[in-house]
Amino acid sequence: KEESTLSITVVGASGDLANKKIFPALFALFYEDCLPENFTVFGFARTKLTDEELRNMISKTLTCRIDKRENCDDKMDQFLKRCFYQAGQYNSEESFLELDKKLKEKEAGKLSNRLFYLSIPPNIFVDVVRCASHRASSTNGWTRVIVEKPFGRDSESSGELTRCLKQYLTEDQIFRIDHYLGKELVENLSVLRFSNLVFEPLWSRNYIRNVQLIFSEDFGTEGRGGYFDNYGIIRDIMQNHLLQILALFAMETPVSLEAEDIRNEKVKVLRSMKPLKLEDVIVGQYKGHGKGGKSYPAYTDDPTVPKDSLTPTFAAAALFINNARWDGIPFLMKAGKALHVKRAEIRVQFRHVPGNLYKRNFGTDLDKATNELVLRVQPDEAIYLKINNKVPEIPDAYERLLLDAIEGERRLFIRSDELDAAWALFTPLLRELEEKKIFPELYPYGSRGPVGAHYLAAKHNVRWGDLS
Ligand code: BG6
Repeated sequence: KEESTLSITVVGASGDLANKKIFPALFALFYEDCLPENFTVFGFARTKLTDEELRNMISKTLTCRIDKRENCDDKMDQFLKRCFYQAGQYNSEESFLELDKKLKEKEAGKLSNRLFYLSIPPNIFVDVVRCASHRASSTNGWTRVIVEKPFGRDSESSGELTRCLKQYLTEDQIFRIDHYLGKELVENLSVLRFSNLVFEPLWSRNYIRNVQLIFSEDFGTEGRGGYFDNYGIIRDIMQNHLLQILALFAMETPVSLEAEDIRNEKVKVLRSMKPLKLEDVIVGQYKGHGKGGKSYPAYTDDPTVPKDSLTPTFAAAALFINNARWDGIPFLMKAGKALHVKRAEIRVQFRHVPGNLYKRNFGTDLDKATNELVLRVQPDEAIYLKINNKVPEIPDAYERLLLDAIEGERRLFIRSDELDAAWALFTPLLRELEEKKIFPELYPYGSRGPVGAHYLAAKHNVRWGDLS
């Protein structure tokens, strides 16, 4: 088998995203031995830096996920030694030719796969893709390009961007990233639905009343106002992260777990939805105040934001999926910056139980009587189901029953015919055990009990739940 090499070029290497997310992610993959044997990482940006300066810059952002992991420093050194830098202009084919030379040196004639991560503003995507594809694509392996949102500002500009990218790349080569799809809990959404019998049958308008997709951050645009003001929360969070989650949540069972099968189903969901109207949406923007001895800035206090900006930093929207499974069910989205808490959640509210016998226990707040499934994406990922239980009143069984007897409440007492029936079930067995002097199977004190219990369960194709 021919030995291959992988080079990953981070275009926009001196930027925020590259340093906060991409280099640390690459290091983590290296640490976990997930990168191929022969890999190199190239930083590419306009700033003039030496390899050493790049390494210094990156090294500040690398962490070992679990503190004090063994040989973390060693691993960091090994990783940094594989990092190189090429300064250049984003629209200069020459610069990419330079990069190509350096890549070839490292590849040493082996089969070379090249991945470009475009960590740059969208207005220069096309320039970079043009230069990279003309001058720096692999000649004997694959070339792939990861692009990060915003993919345009609306349908037209997004369509235009796609058309331009496709002049230089095939759809197969373009990897549009939505980092929410990489989050553990979002990935787990399909597992939850499609590999648990108890959820999928409930996953429709027959049992679900509404679905809520909530994104909340407890900080403002701090330093990112310039970017953010051009886009606003709907483009920044809803149209991508929350909508992706919605599509995964609502899609039909895909034919397989292959990318195309899943993407086919997601597209169907999106195409079954009507474009939003003004009346479907609420938008907001945070304002400053000085409550609780602390002062909080307004969005428009951000020096990079125009004072008269109308850009929403909060939005709530109601969406509907016009298909047999979801007809009429509201999918509510809410996304905001500078809110009281940092949290991302999917909340599924189930319908009321028809003719609920316990209705009066919930007074007028009937919503409390329904089940809710909560999928907390972050922080502290969790999946929990709210189940209605009795509110404990009197903790001790004897106290309660005594009181019931005093009050003449018979519900928890056994009627004589009930008692007869209960005995009738066990009496013949008990007699036989005694008459035939059946020996009980011995089992060690503190063990899980006699092995015979397992055989009994197995006879009925059952395994006991583990009490550990
Ligand atoms: C980004 C948005 O896509 O996601 C940011 O541009 C937002 O505005 C961020 O803060 C949230 O990502 P995470 O992973 O921190 O929830």
